Amino acid sequence: MKPLERPANRNYSSGPCRKRPGYDVSKLDLATLGRSHRSGPGKSVLARVCSETAQVLGLPPGYRVGVVPASDTGAVEMALWSLLGPRPVDVFAWESFGQGWLVDITRQLRLDDVRTFTAEYGALPDLALADPAHDTVFTWNGTTSGVKVPNGDWISDDRTGLTICDATSAVFAMELPWDKLDVITYSWQKVLGGEGAHGMLILGPRAVERLESYTPPWPLPKIFRMTKNGKLIEGIFQGETINTPSMLCVADYLDALAWVRKIGGVAETIRRSQRNLAVLEEFVEAHDWIRFLAGEPAQRSNTSVCLTVDLPDDRAKAMAGLLDREGVAYDIGAYRDAPAGLRIWCGATVEEDDLRKLMPWLEWAYGQAKEA
Ligand SMILES: Cc1ncc(COP(=O)(O)O)c(C=O)c1O
Repeated sequence: MKPLERPANRNYSSGPCRKRPGYDVSKLDLATLGRSHRSGPGKSVLARVCSETAQVLGLPPGYRVGVVPASDTGAVEMALWSLLGPRPVDVFAWESFGQGWLVDITRQLRLDDVRTFTAEYGALPDLALADPAHDTVFTWNGTTSGVKVPNGDWISDDRTGLTICDATSAVFAMELPWDKLDVITYSWQKVLGGEGAHGMLILGPRAVERLESYTPPWPLPKIFRMTKNGKLIEGIFQGETINTPSMLCVADYLDALAWVRKIGGVAETIRRSQRNLAVLEEFVEAHDWIRFLAGEPAQRSNTSVCLTVDLPDDRAKAMAGLLDREGVAYDIGAYRDAPAGLRIWCGATVEEDDLRKLMPWLEWAYGQAKEA
């Protein structure tokens, strides 16, 4: 039987993700719109983005936060192009985005001293193989496979190499061991439901030391350059962006950060996301036709939750299409390169009650797709 109740909010995309509960675009503080980002007020809100991010996330002293061009991809590539080269590199990849960084490192930067550790969709490579004397590049949460790194125990406190972590769908939703991460990147449109286009680049002291002691042999475009005369351009990490950001997106991000603070900080955004995952766990437990793509429970993402269903690929796709047409859940088909199935965003902006209302619809859509 077709369920009677629909979720109040039908947005379950894994990026851009749902806006926060209570979001109202007309309530944004738009005082800087139409002003230069280099004006006093412009610079001041951009500086707030850096300092409030560090404070809300609880970053250790000495960690710098910068707003950079080109979303998370821009932030990751800025790090790879600026930092890699002097040491061997260990790359861990288990889904589409991690594979992309591997391509950057081996085919674009053409580094040859690279060890590659990969796994199929649903699994993690053996992270314990990371050599602490090498630079390590990995994704914290594989958004397209729903497999996350369960903890940072495998990262040595005595490492001499850098850890470069694409954490775009993890920051604000998962506990991150900041001291073990030398470079962390994310973008605003994931867990916070912010707007796309801006990358966040967090540098630990060891990454800064590398930047100031090493010059890559390849050319660096202006939007990747973080040093001048061998010194870090500190301004980038104090709101003096390399080029022009959207002040509208900046206002939107500060609104999202204020929401995080209001509901109880990152501990609460993590809890919200975990409670959302628990709704899906309960449902999967009770139905034998649906499974997590992630093989290990500890590696299950609590943001981009990927599920496989006991249907041929075209029927699984039809299931997602049906839920979209019914106005129940938008954008929940698996990522194009991933095994067919569903991907349901469970980040902090998603309400648990909406997910509960979605569950009977999954059962209904499965029945429809099976019979079709
Ligand atoms: C793990 C991961 N890395 C990188 C990206 C690319 O992010 P952006 O579009 O912010 O550059 C995404 C986007 O979904 C992602 O999930």
